Amino acid sequence: MSDAASIRAFSQNAFTLSINRRLIEGHAIPAGVCLDVGAGTGETSRILVEHAPAGTRVILVDCATHELSKARELLGSRAGYVAAKAETLERLFVTPVDAAFFFNCVHLVEDKSALFRSVRSGLRSGSLLAFNTSFIAGAEPEEATGFYRSWVRSALKMLKREYGFRPTKERVAARRRLSSDEYTSCATNEGFEIVEATVDRVEMPMTAFYGLCHYPDWVAGILPGVDFDVGSAVLQRSLSRTQEAMNLTHSPRLWLRVVALAT
Ligand SMILES: C[S@@+](CC[C@H](N)C(=O)[O-])C[C@H]1O[C@@H](n2cnc3c(N)ncnc32)[C@H](O)[C@@H]1O
Repeated sequence: MSDAASIRAFSQNAFTLSINRRLIEGHAIPAGVCLDVGAGTGETSRILVEHAPAGTRVILVDCATHELSKARELLGSRAGYVAAKAETLERLFVTPVDAAFFFNCVHLVEDKSALFRSVRSGLRSGSLLAFNTSFIAGAEPEEATGFYRSWVRSALKMLKREYGFRPTKERVAARRRLSSDEYTSCATNEGFEIVEATVDRVEMPMTAFYGLCHYPDWVAGILPGVDFDVGSAVLQRSLSRTQEAMNLTHSPRLWLRVVALAT
């Protein structure tokens, strides 16, 4: 896999930062230890560091060490870094945590109940849990389905014609989507009280979709079993064709954001 394989191009997009900023700015962050789980390359963590009350230690957790090292270059000693899976949080911290943020990553974890249970056991009562995701059932409104269909169709044709490949039938966790109600009841069942659950309709720019084409989990989600460098190149070229043919700058999408407190 090339060095370009990273979430950075998506994470540093102004659109992504504005989506994540909504979650950060919606509620006061308690002072103490604040986790950014699935932090990736740290662009949103930087906003958390700037926004958190004085004396708060922000700790970035991610299972991808190559992404965490990019985050470390960005933030240095202003944050802490832990390479680990979100599902193992309860084993990582000896002192309880005061806030845990998950930006655009809960959908990547197979067992959401196990994830929330693990997070809950690492938090003290009253601690904050905040997450957002666009991988919810019905995230693509009716008007957007033509764009996705045409993009994927064009990518599959290109892959077959130019490389003689077909993706496998594998379905990654992000393609088995929960509804927004299922997300909130899952968190409630594992010891959280929901403070806010909002589904925002947003206009996602094509630049953010190009950013996702550099992210291995996105490429594997659309073209499972295909080599990352091939899949990434094919998705970028087919996106460009679709964008041009449909004369698009943006596509509408639904984004769930949830704020909860540990009971
Ligand atoms: C879509 S990116 C989101 C990055 C960043 N939070 C943002 O919103 O820009 C998802 C991140 O979650 C990480 N990730 C995926 N599954 C994970 C897991 N089970 N535990 C911890 N991190 C995970 C990936 O490595 C990636 O950096």
